[in-house]
Amino acid sequence: MTPAASRRTALRLLTGAAVAGAVAGTGGRAHAAGGSGRVDGRMSAVGGSAGVDGRMYAVGGSAGADGRTYAVDDLVARLTLSEKVSLLHGAPDPAPLGQAGHLPGVPRLGIPPLRLADGPAGVRVAAPATALPAPVLLAAAFDPDLARRYGEVIGREGRALGQDVLLSPMVNLIRIPYAGRNFETLAEDPLLAADLVAAEIEGIQSEGLVATVKHFALNNQEKDRETVDVRVDERTLHEVYLRAFEAAVTARAGAVMAAYNKVGGTHAGEHPDLLTGVLRERWGFDGLVMSDWSATHSTARALAAGLDLEMPDGRHYGDALLTAVRAGTVPEQHVDRAVRRVLTVMDRFGLLAAAPPSRPARDAAAGAAVAREVAEAGATLLRNEHGTLPLAPGRTVAVIGPTGARPLVGGGGSAHVVPDRADAPLDTIGARAARVTYALGEDIFGKRLPADALTPALDTESRPVSAGRSWTYDGTLTVPEDDEWTLLLHYSGDPAHRPEVRLDDANLFPMAPGYTEYFPGGLLTTAPDGLAVRRRTLRLGAGRHRLRITASGGERGQTFRLRHLTGATRAADVTEAVRAARAADDVVLFAYEDATEGQDRTTLALPGGQNRLIEAVTRANPRTTVVLNTSGAVLMPWLAGTGAVLQMYYPGQEGAAATAAVLYGECDPGGRLTQTFPAADDRHPVAGDPRRYPGVAGTEEYREGVHIGHRWYDRHGVRPLFPFGHGLSYTSFAYTGPVARPVRDGGLDVTFTVRNTGDRDGVTVAQVYVGPSPDLALDQPVRALAGYRRLALRAGERRRVTVRAGARTLSCWDVRRHDWVLGTGRRAVWIGTSSADLRLRTSADVGAPG
Ligand code: BGC
Repeated sequence: MTPAASRRTALRLLTGAAVAGAVAGTGGRAHAAGGSGRVDGRMSAVGGSAGVDGRMYAVGGSAGADGRTYAVDDLVARLTLSEKVSLLHGAPDPAPLGQAGHLPGVPRLGIPPLRLADGPAGVRVAAPATALPAPVLLAAAFDPDLARRYGEVIGREGRALGQDVLLSPMVNLIRIPYAGRNFETLAEDPLLAADLVAAEIEGIQSEGLVATVKHFALNNQEKDRETVDVRVDERTLHEVYLRAFEAAVTARAGAVMAAYNKVGGTHAGEHPDLLTGVLRERWGFDGLVMSDWSATHSTARALAAGLDLEMPDGRHYGDALLTAVRAGTVPEQHVDRAVRRVLTVMDRFGLLAAAPPSRPARDAAAGAAVAREVAEAGATLLRNEHGTLPLAPGRTVAVIGPTGARPLVGGGGSAHVVPDRADAPLDTIGARAARVTYALGEDIFGKRLPADALTPALDTESRPVSAGRSWTYDGTLTVPEDDEWTLLLHYSGDPAHRPEVRLDDANLFPMAPGYTEYFPGGLLTTAPDGLAVRRRTLRLGAGRHRLRITASGGERGQTFRLRHLTGATRAADVTEAVRAARAADDVVLFAYEDATEGQDRTTLALPGGQNRLIEAVTRANPRTTVVLNTSGAVLMPWLAGTGAVLQMYYPGQEGAAATAAVLYGECDPGGRLTQTFPAADDRHPVAGDPRRYPGVAGTEEYREGVHIGHRWYDRHGVRPLFPFGHGLSYTSFAYTGPVARPVRDGGLDVTFTVRNTGDRDGVTVAQVYVGPSPDLALDQPVRALAGYRRLALRAGERRRVTVRAGARTLSCWDVRRHDWVLGTGRRAVWIGTSSADLRLRTSADVGAPG
């Protein structure tokens, strides 16, 4: 495409305005680095490829069975049409390692297969790997260097575990507090997400594993993710939602995964303006674009739009593509272009070389050390009253809550990593306390259903059904009094053969649509003995209820059990917890929320009876610390009664050790919120307007525009429960002496002094926010995060620091020119420890370096 045509390319969004355009300006980096791919995706005849270390290598080419080596263009010329097509879609792996995807190679020409494994909190294969803390916890450290090391662990492990491509990181911003994958991503703030993803990708790829930034673009929710049609204005798209993707491309991510959803009426996976206009022509992306799993919707259209690789199979890019090329409805050049992109990435990572890079051994100890460091660095202390924390060793502690004994290592869905190991917080706290007692408090797996609750009597605790057989029970369940019941089905085997349980003719556990069925939840949906768990809570009146259970053994046989919870069983669990709390000096209560891909939450309240449990326990012992193992924001109606609240998210395999270290003050809680915690279900940026979420008639409008997350709270004067950037230290810091100076590239250098005024070493995260430009007649954020610095200071230590607010952050997207425009003029500058705790204020003339 000519530059002029490129300029004409329009991205039909909410405004219907054009997006792709001039490459000049603040952001128009087109880097056909190393000549490995021109902006149009064609290989230059000569030249080399930039290696993972950024150095140039001659295109080594692959060594074929004939012993000769071929350069990429040469290879494309030698491949038959069906070989080329086979390189454009996934296929079953003859020797699977439990990874998500596989691309067969072409042995005849020495093109090896590719294995593609999920992340993002480690490498998801069948074998154990380092289960790192969830990315949202990594982000809480506000530390790109740590993100790089997190990436290095994954990069090395991925290679060691037989993988070539990692299907992460995920950088869709936290727009919706309910979104099921908020734990898998980084932040609500575009600048922070951009910095961290770039560093993580550098880390992953420095070990020779190809990183895939996902999901491009606007996959900000799980509800209706395969069909929702997102409408966003051009300026918001560039300033907010594309920012981290662009940073990933600048960091030279090898691959991009197109999202499930639609954008402006077109599926993201066949969106020419996104996949070609923005990604290739504006940003100069020279890697490969793959579909999300089963998210390809066409053959000719998707390929022409710029989707190179269909995953995980060849529904559209297999026989259909072969036939279309033979029939002349798809130009073979489109196939060649996509093949070239796939091979160019392989070549860049040395995978086509005669002697491909050898695979390292896993270094589990190094992985564990980084997992622990990240969990401590991201541990976010939200509240700490009456000197509740740090805990003094040598006192008695009551540990309460299911995740106190059964660690919630990671979230569910494709992000679940098989951990090397995982301690229980009960043990790590027990190792530091004089004595520790444990109470369940909230039962997540249910109690045995008494056989005589059913007529005819039936023991529902363990019902095996042999392969090929079926089993039916018809009877009644007797409910002694009106009550809230939870019925829990534990079952083995394929969800397709899940037993059917009908109460008064209602199917209690219907098959959920699409992927939701396969991603029923995180770790807490698997019972200790490995059976999958489904729960259903409903009000039941006193009396007899018709119960019919049918189960089939399927091909492999099936075991299931039916359990229950009632008001009485819940009250007994709470009573036991209260007794333990009263008898202990300190209480650590673990609260959970078990998020997963495939579904959003429907409320920010903690699930089950946890609110009641926390209220009862904090009344019994105000020296209660609530440790949150949640995917993100939750409501805290019980907050005022607590001594402390520590957000640990899903802390990875070393989470229990890190949690105990923070509770006992062996390290300072280093994390700060990367998302605002709303005060109520109706007080956040997508509340109260279904057009914003979850959408109306399949369409969702990002009507809050550039005011995402903390910007929205500032814009509308809404008080959150906890602001973006919030997190307490065990020491205190004074901020003084702010000076802001314009620098030559249009940015600002913001200098100030930070002093640790307490008597402990500790961490503060200095945050620089900048106000609107008076020269731009645009609806700008009241305050945008423009820079930050994580500082570890010894007791009494003072440091003068300078944080650069980059020109890009001080720029807005100009929809007339389809390019960035610097927000010049006198702009307010704040330095704070959260978006609401602004300690210092100054101002500077942007664009006027003195
Ligand atoms: C997810 C992707 C994931 C893929 C492969 C999809 O459902 O959206 O993030 O990489 O599955 O497991």
